[in-house]
Amino acid sequence: MPVVAVSHPLVRHKVGLLREADISTKKFRELTGELGRLLAYEATADFPLATTTIHCWSGPTEIEQIAGRKVTVVPILRAGLGMLDGVLDMLPNAKVSVVGLARNHETLQPEPYFDRFVGQLGERTALIIDPMLATGGSMISTIDMLKARGCRDIRALVLVAAPEGIRALEAAHPDVRCWTAAVDSHLDEQGYIIPGLGDAGDKIFGTK
Ligand code: PRP
Ligand code: URA
Repeated sequence: MPVVAVSHPLVRHKVGLLREADISTKKFRELTGELGRLLAYEATADFPLATTTIHCWSGPTEIEQIAGRKVTVVPILRAGLGMLDGVLDMLPNAKVSVVGLARNHETLQPEPYFDRFVGQLGERTALIIDPMLATGGSMISTIDMLKARGCRDIRALVLVAAPEGIRALEAAHPDVRCWTAAVDSHLDEQGYIIPGLGDAGDKIFGTK
């Protein structure tokens, strides 16, 4: 199944804390970063390993290292930036590609305003990060952009997903796997996830 709800107790605990209506900007940022770390851990579980010999204190020793994986992390502006440091803690050599999309409040369609991709996307695993999968439009549009540039291994990390967004993502890109910290009930008339987090971008940036 392309969309996986991560069931680890730490993930479930932390996403619950994020839902507090009066959460501070500081706490929201901390939890978003921590969840980024945990989701990156889950989404990289199938990365291949190769053995190499190093000089250990006790003599030559065979160790395992991640092999043949170049990664680009792809935060969707703005809210995706809240997960970036946490994901880079786990993947410190990853390059970063940035996509700027703003959801039109009336149509709920994503409107692109910026993109900057690293080169040779055909050789890289892309880890798209965005806290919210609501209608799925922003995620689908980002995947379209990555595929148009030759990227073949695309994974998505989100904190809260609506069933509507999951269905849309699975229909548009059945080859893309997505890890989410929570699957919520539904979207309201304004396209907000219920119970959700509210506006994740505003909470991370302290706007509004
Ligand atoms: C939010 C969120 C996602 C998008 C999800 O961003 O961070 O990118 O909405 O909605 P969708 O699944 O219906 O496309 P928003 O456009 O509000 O921008 P922001 O991150 O700058 O606040
Ligand atoms: N974007 C958000 O930030 N929150 C939602 O619930 C939906 C879209």
